[in-house]
Amino acid sequence: MDITTGHNARQRGFDPLLAEAPPLDAADPGYREERDASGAAAAVARFSAHAESDPDAVWGALRRHELDVRVAGEDPGPAFGRILDDWLRTIAADERPGDAESSARVNVPSRDIALVNALSARGFSPTGIRAVRPLPRGALAPAPALPAELDGAVVRTATLDDVPALGALDARLLALDAHFAGVTERPGAAAMFAEAYRARLRTAPDTTWVLERPTGITGCIHVMPDADSPEPDTLALAASGGQYLVVMYLDESERGAGTGAAFCDMAHRLLDADGSPYTVLSYAVANPRSGPFWSRMGYRPVVTEWQRRPAVLAV
Ligand SMILES: CC(C)(COP(=O)(O)OP(=O)(O)OC[C@H]1O[C@@H](n2cnc3c(N)ncnc32)[C@H](O)[C@@H]1OP(=O)(O)O)[C@@H](O)C(=O)NCCC(=O)NCCS
Repeated sequence: MDITTGHNARQRGFDPLLAEAPPLDAADPGYREERDASGAAAAVARFSAHAESDPDAVWGALRRHELDVRVAGEDPGPAFGRILDDWLRTIAADERPGDAESSARVNVPSRDIALVNALSARGFSPTGIRAVRPLPRGALAPAPALPAELDGAVVRTATLDDVPALGALDARLLALDAHFAGVTERPGAAAMFAEAYRARLRTAPDTTWVLERPTGITGCIHVMPDADSPEPDTLALAASGGQYLVVMYLDESERGAGTGAAFCDMAHRLLDADGSPYTVLSYAVANPRSGPFWSRMGYRPVVTEWQRRPAVLAV
């Protein structure tokens, strides 16, 4: 059986939220394939290099090796493991051991447990989760009228005047998330983020909200149409036309009192009332606040990003 056909048959069985994977190009120089009695795996390896000043440089290492994978059969783990070994051998020829500006990354369906041991045995860790909250079934809670009061603060829709404050909050989130092996702090990140907000608030003027006190803005939720998502490549969802929650951040002074949950609930009610079929977001696996918070808010994992960074481990 064709490996992508088998891949999609397996995937339909464990996650209806993911789209069918497209076929791989067997003529691509990065293509490889492995088969045995229990399963099969195919993949295309890709590479991208980023200058430090490139806005995308914050999303990881400067040199990124990526693998687009299909697996089929009863137990594709061993075939997948041989693909990883072959790929890592080619990476080792190009990269310096221990260089944290190199990474090897693989996005896999979170529910494909057959792939976990093969990745783990080769030093990969789960670094990122993409999680989805489908539009709730049944009657929807009414959307709040904005501006609205929340715990003594005001929630309102962001305007272009808020761009510097939003950029600064985003840079603080980057500094926090840089602890978790995925994203990387880069010089000038706050100004770069502010520029991105300026463009995105023009494209989607109604789906960024700030939490404001007399002292200034102490939190934000920034949402974009999923189709315009600024996140790097990942596996596609079966549904389209949803929203991507790019950033949620609260100042330390606002945390741990239920304000985040209530603020997020307001955003969800606004998105639900607008008919968004789903909301999707990404978070760092090792951020101790993210998984519990987003699970409570109704999100569940669909794609797990596994990474080795450095791509070639120091001996
Ligand atoms: C993640 C974040 C948005 C959550 O906001 P928050 O206001 O701290 O979240 P909540 O108050 O709803 O929940 C946090 C804790 O307060 C508790 N809490 C206290 N009073 C509460 C109340 N009245 N109602 C609900 N929860 C309450 C919650 O139970 C929860 O406890 P736990 O963490 O021990 O499980 C916020 O902490 C934040 O911005 N962190 C920094 C950025 C970050 O890590 N982002 C991760 C997502 S990408």
